[in-house]
Amino acid sequence: MKYYITTPIYYPNSSPHIGTAYTTIAADAMARLRRMKGDDVFFLTGTDENAQKIVRTAEAAGLDPHTYVDGIVEKFKELWRLLDISNDDFIRTTEERHAKVVQQIFTRLYEQGDIYKSEYEGWYCTPCETFWTRNKLVDGKCPNPDCGREVELLKEESYFFRMSKYEQRLLKYIQENPDFIQPVSRRNEMIRFIESGLEDLCVSRTTFQWGIKVPFDPKHVVYVWLDALINYISALGYPDDVNYNKYWPADVHLIGKDILRFHTIIWPIILMALDIPLPKKVYGHGWFLSREGGKISKSRGNVQDSFELIRRYGSDPIRYFLLREMQAGMDGTYSEDDLVEKLNSDLANDLGNYISRTLAMIVKYNDSKVPAPGADTELETELKSLSSSVAKTVEQKMLDCDPAAALEAIWQFVSQCNKYVDTTAPWNLAKDPAQRERLNTVLYTFADSIRILGIFCAPFMPGVPEKIKPLLGGGDYYRVWDDATRWNVLKPGTEIQKGEPIFPRVDLSQFSEPESEQEAPDVVKMPPLKEEIGIDEFAKLDLRVVKIIKAEKVEKTDRLLKLEVEMGGETRTVVSGIAQHYTAEELVGKKVILVANLKPAKLRGIVSQGMILAASDQEQLEVLTVAKDLPTGAQVK
Ligand code: MSP
Repeated sequence: MKYYITTPIYYPNSSPHIGTAYTTIAADAMARLRRMKGDDVFFLTGTDENAQKIVRTAEAAGLDPHTYVDGIVEKFKELWRLLDISNDDFIRTTEERHAKVVQQIFTRLYEQGDIYKSEYEGWYCTPCETFWTRNKLVDGKCPNPDCGREVELLKEESYFFRMSKYEQRLLKYIQENPDFIQPVSRRNEMIRFIESGLEDLCVSRTTFQWGIKVPFDPKHVVYVWLDALINYISALGYPDDVNYNKYWPADVHLIGKDILRFHTIIWPIILMALDIPLPKKVYGHGWFLSREGGKISKSRGNVQDSFELIRRYGSDPIRYFLLREMQAGMDGTYSEDDLVEKLNSDLANDLGNYISRTLAMIVKYNDSKVPAPGADTELETELKSLSSSVAKTVEQKMLDCDPAAALEAIWQFVSQCNKYVDTTAPWNLAKDPAQRERLNTVLYTFADSIRILGIFCAPFMPGVPEKIKPLLGGGDYYRVWDDATRWNVLKPGTEIQKGEPIFPRVDLSQFSEPESEQEAPDVVKMPPLKEEIGIDEFAKLDLRVVKIIKAEKVEKTDRLLKLEVEMGGETRTVVSGIAQHYTAEELVGKKVILVANLKPAKLRGIVSQGMILAASDQEQLEVLTVAKDLPTGAQVK
């Protein structure tokens, strides 16, 4: 099966940002999944360079347009490289291979009477590169709800494309092909637009020279949208290259909702006029909005430097966040705080912690070797059938251009894996030699599930298999999607490594310097964090609420207090190093937290049966108390 997927070609008038990155990342994930399914994939992206606004921005920067776009195009390419974008081609509309096809098509449409010369009188919005009639303007400005900027009056000789001629044919096509425009809400919007009547489109300009010349009338340059849309076939070598014959029609044009009209009205009509098949699907996703509500865009000044974001978090977390956040048919919200929160919860905690805790158990209970599994119980069967159904759901959701739903399904598997650890409780199995075979099955299932997680993550976060690979003995298990539905692939005896957490937790404040001495946050320099432990290790601690009923200084020390605490009717003696911070009277009556299962230890001849919890920096210390009147003996979990 062939699979041809495209992104819009971006205006290189400014550096790419998170909003523009979304489409490319989503298309990349779809392309990667299809490759893992064995399809012959062609994934195209590029830049739309012949726009009038490029000339203006370059002029403002004191550069000629070529020099200006060359610099920005390099930034796009660099960003895509850093974000692990696996495009097969990158088309620039200033390339000869593209201009040649545009000129050929323009001439053909002119010769067959679909393009004719006339005079244009109307309005033009340069930021949107769109023609408007007077009655469409809102308060004399651009009617695009995201723009609203000044429009310019144009009166010039122009060529026109006979869109009106194809109106009924297009409407019929859209009605007969429900998959063509997705999501459905946008399809209805387009149908209404066409039903309101299509006017012929002005397709050439004479008031500037930047662009592709009309070959038979070189004072005209081709209208940038007609030029840009053709990239989808010029890059394949239309009309006779093998790539064109192999890959056209496109399986998906993935675009943002703002440019749906160009892709589902102008583009299909060009293709109909050329008598070539239409793309199978045009999917218009929503926008990333800032927390304040506006679209993330350079002109609104609310974009963050994408390169800095990658430096802080790496490509995988950014990819994950953007893909997970944009729900089908809706807008998404972007903020760095939300990105960090998702990184910590979904990646560091749910996924990363599952991997490190289960590997740690293989290290501990089987000398770092993947054991041979015994017979499956219902728990393993359940997990195995879930991986198959998740694989199917992900495939379908990605064909539907819905990566958020695909990731949601994968995270159901992640969560089931975590539950499997708690239910099987290997730390208990390890205590009982009769359970050795059962323990082996559980440990094996851990290791093989990590391999499957590597496959599941690969299209979305291509760095994950790379991180998992050395942990599971270096084998190359992550290239074939259907291997996520096969179990018992990992070889027993494989030596595993515990390694570093694959997604370390991040604290946003680590990236911001306190602005001045006064504004420095009221915290001490934090002591380094201790080695990570699994929930099973934490669960070994028995913490209880106890009441201090008596307190006295231990003779000949100024640090120690001897406390008598009451816990569920039982009295214990605890020696605590808090005498410099509390008097005996201050403590009596307080309900505090005791580590109740700490081995008794002798301090200054007194047997201490546990330890009281306290928070401290170098100067202050405060014992942890409970505000509610909980009974003594209550567990702290
Ligand atoms: N050059 C045209 C496309 C021509 S395709 C034949 C263009 N370029 S653009 O650079 O302005 O926008 C490219 C894409 O980025 C559009 O699909 C647009 O929807 C998308 N996005 C720009 N800002 C965005 C967000 N804040 N969020 C999501 N996508 C956004 O239009």
